[in-house]
Amino acid sequence: MTIYEIITKKKHNVELSTEEINWVVAGYVSGSIPDYQMSALLMAICFCSLSDRETTDLTMAMARSGDMIKPETGGFNVDKHSTGGVGDKTTLIVAPIVAACGVCVPKMSGRGLGHTGGTIDKLESIPGFKTEISFEKFVENVKKAGLAVAGQTGSLVPADKKIYALRNATATVDSIPLICSSIMSKKLATGADGIVLDVKVGDGAFMKTYEDAEKLADAMVRVGKLAGRKCVAVITDMEKPLGRAVGNSLEVIEAIEALKGNAPDDLLEVSLVLATEMLYVAGKGSTEDCRKMAEEAVSSGKALAKLSEMIQLQGGNPEVINDYTFFAQPKRSKEIFASEDGFVTGISCEKTGLISLKLGAGRETKESDIDFTAGIIFDKTVGDKVSKGERIATLYTSTKCDIDAIAEDFAKVFTYTATENPCPEKIVKKVIKGY
Ligand code: URA
Repeated sequence: MTIYEIITKKKHNVELSTEEINWVVAGYVSGSIPDYQMSALLMAICFCSLSDRETTDLTMAMARSGDMIKPETGGFNVDKHSTGGVGDKTTLIVAPIVAACGVCVPKMSGRGLGHTGGTIDKLESIPGFKTEISFEKFVENVKKAGLAVAGQTGSLVPADKKIYALRNATATVDSIPLICSSIMSKKLATGADGIVLDVKVGDGAFMKTYEDAEKLADAMVRVGKLAGRKCVAVITDMEKPLGRAVGNSLEVIEAIEALKGNAPDDLLEVSLVLATEMLYVAGKGSTEDCRKMAEEAVSSGKALAKLSEMIQLQGGNPEVINDYTFFAQPKRSKEIFASEDGFVTGISCEKTGLISLKLGAGRETKESDIDFTAGIIFDKTVGDKVSKGERIATLYTSTKCDIDAIAEDFAKVFTYTATENPCPEKIVKKVIKGY
């Protein structure tokens, strides 16, 4: 077996055997297969795709490339994963809701990627909050509070770490089998009994069309099922940023407000559907019962109390919940005004993500520091009526970026029409239950 033969097979759309896939993953992790040959294979996969069997084999080989852990929390463990979006702070809302309903959420999360944000960066905007905790402490916290959110340790799925970095540099990210194996290998290696996947679709997501999002959702659910996990995928809209805040501390504040009962409609609906499905996979009752439980966890204040408990257990200052001045404050801001009368028809998600990156909310390189205060608050969203000169958003930063030039670019993020759209996009498009 040689890597040259395997690349040639895939280039001609021939199925790879389980042995060949295992051999490639092991060889790439050990360093015996160099980046340039792995890149060629990844590009061949982008063009010729993988069969269901090959995708499952790749996922399992990647999952087994490092430690396979199982948090022994004494309960049913549910995990949630988003394929990546802009303004997506749902983990900060959903994990406390589910924990408040008595289901354990041991969650390992990632940092921001490209124009999309990451839960770990958001949580680190809370003064004192530690995301790098030992596995023992992580499990202990879940046993105490029902939830913990930590960064993934280096020994988990090293194959994904290496392959993802290579995909990022070789324009091979947006392939359905490669995204499926990347996400599901991490979920399978962290031992969740139930997995709820939020598959984003639209301009701000890796999947731009509904058809591709559905294919990805089906592939992930199938792999989860084959691995013996209860798996549900929810396809949700990412044609515009989720909620009204983009940026790290700004999104944490929006999540806290959501748990106080003040969520924008789109954010509330996605969060409640995800929480409902997590409770459902944990066997908490019918979908209707689970939805009611999730709503009550918010209205009773129990979910907010869970967030506070998690912040305290991970070294953060829980006072941020009552007083937002405990967060670092932005040094500069700039208001943005509507350029015409009418209705907002679109807010480009990808452009919003890139602008928040320029303001300092994300990393331009792996080594860049994040400005936790940077980001955007939207006053207006898709479907809203606006008058020329009315404020539509505010930009925030503490970096030395050229905020005036960024504001000029940002004005192009909005599009308008003279008449109201009677059929706005549905925020939750489909729920696929894999068992
Ligand atoms: N998120 C991941 O973890 N992997 C991908 O390939 C895409 C999104």
